[in-house]
Amino acid sequence: MTSERALPIAVLGSGSGSNCQSIIDAIEAGALNARIVCVISDVEDAPILARAQRHGIPAEHISGAPFKTKIAGDAEKQYIARLTESGAEVIVLAGFMRIIKAGLLEAYAGRIINIHPSLLPAFPGLHSWKQALEYGAKVAGCTVHFVDGGTDTGPIIIQRSVPILEDDTSESLHARIQIEEHEAYPEALRAITSGRAKLIGRRVALS
Ligand code: GRF
Repeated sequence: MTSERALPIAVLGSGSGSNCQSIIDAIEAGALNARIVCVISDVEDAPILARAQRHGIPAEHISGAPFKTKIAGDAEKQYIARLTESGAEVIVLAGFMRIIKAGLLEAYAGRIINIHPSLLPAFPGLHSWKQALEYGAKVAGCTVHFVDGGTDTGPIIIQRSVPILEDDTSESLHARIQIEEHEAYPEALRAITSGRAKLIGRRVALS
């Protein structure tokens, strides 16, 4: 990965795609030296696909069936084939609601990143902002991290925090976390595209 050419990336998502949008916007604004070579969703009518198409980015649905919560078996083979064909060098998970298993992890070892709506290692798993609110935490946030074989356990690239306010609802807190996510993901990708993110053990040094 050099700073000379636009890094080819693929984005995988299952939902609204607001993080994908923030990456598209950063690229179009000249603030991120990358190009999205494909967007893939496991959900046929996910808005992330329409967002990509509006920007002329190849976007397609690839089912994860028969599994519900992971990419494995034939579906995994299809994902790997499409990603390989696209020329993507880094896989960006943006609200992709399935666990990545060994086949895909090995095909893109150290080159899959994810954004999670909590300050990991606190509150891994689903609806992390709700977990933080219900726990009574005073600070929440988001984490961009490399993906490994665990659930939200990979090396942390960057984190951003938001205070949890007395009158926060689950919705208001999630909305404030998402504002930070939309800054954090392009920032983490900038560190990767410029070769500034170095993995040392499980620490990511940002030079
Ligand atoms: C984000 O909150 C992200 O942290 C989580 O899923 C959500 C995706 O949102 N992994 P969007 O589809 O990017 O709007």
